[in-house]
Amino acid sequence: MKKEKFILLTGSTDGIGLRSAVEFARAGENMIIHGRSKKKLFDVKNLLQKENPKIVIKTVCADFEDLNQTKTAFEAIADEDIKVVINNAGCFADGVVLTKDGFEKTYQVNHLAPFLITHILLNSLINNAPSKIIIVSSMAHASYIDFEALENKKFAGGYDAYSLSKLCSILFAFKLAGLLKEKEISVNCLHPGVINTKLLINNWGACGMDVKNAHRMIMYAYNLNHNVTGEYLKGMKISKAAAFAYNKSNQDKCYEISKKHLKGIKIELK
Ligand SMILES: NC(=O)c1ccc[n+]([C@@H]2O[C@H](COP(=O)([O-])OP(=O)(O)OC[C@H]3O[C@@H](n4cnc5c(N)ncnc54)[C@H](OP(=O)(O)O)[C@@H]3O)[C@@H](O)[C@H]2O)c1
Repeated sequence: MKKEKFILLTGSTDGIGLRSAVEFARAGENMIIHGRSKKKLFDVKNLLQKENPKIVIKTVCADFEDLNQTKTAFEAIADEDIKVVINNAGCFADGVVLTKDGFEKTYQVNHLAPFLITHILLNSLINNAPSKIIIVSSMAHASYIDFEALENKKFAGGYDAYSLSKLCSILFAFKLAGLLKEKEISVNCLHPGVINTKLLINNWGACGMDVKNAHRMIMYAYNLNHNVTGEYLKGMKISKAAAFAYNKSNQDKCYEISKKHLKGIKIELK
């Protein structure tokens, strides 16, 4: 019997992720929706099934502030047939907030956890190729990383940590695109637009677009031809990230430090 193929969408319980999940449901896509609250996931699953009763919706619950919990939760779905991984979940922590894993919260939630789960799901993406990885970054990404400080877990907190995490996401996307080219997995990252979600409103005020437009960049990335890979997308077109992100040695350094920070995870590309 033919198995269903899924889009895995992190941070489906609010903002850009929720709006995109509704759009994918309307388009008839099966989804594994991720959130950190079982109650919110239950409500979103019901909403999506009402939107389209024909699709299959599975859920994965994990708080990215806890790397072991995240690893266990995503390993439990690693045998599903996943054709697209969309790393969208994210946060902004004001000041230096350390997780129990010892990392600055924004760096862990926005970069380390997506790095971990992408590697956990890589075999499924390889088996279901041509497949896609889409990483939600931000135009607020930094233009430079002090790798020594990052490796030694010296974090600035607040806006600095947010912009650093978003540059790490871009370096990760570009590095993976190179590693996975022969495997027919395209990897792109994007700025979703400035959207009035709780992340924006709580930290910058309601200075963005209405959330009804929140899905547009994810849909744009999803619908791109498979041969488009290693790109930064913004404003419904291929755009340019900070020059720092295109330097291969910076991509390698960020990748190695992320691996070091996650020591113990299996990340061989088979
Ligand atoms: N909004 C903008 O203008 C803007 C601009 C540039 C980039 N972005 C990026 O877009 C992505 C989505 O953000 P958004 O604006 O849609 O924000 P949002 O409305 O706050 O949604 C964030 C999503 O991530 C989940 N999340 C937050 N912390 C988490 C954690 N510790 N563990 C697991 N999941 C967690 C949230 O779960 P809950 O529902 O439980 O809160 C929610 O599903 C983020 O990566 C953000 O950096 C947004």
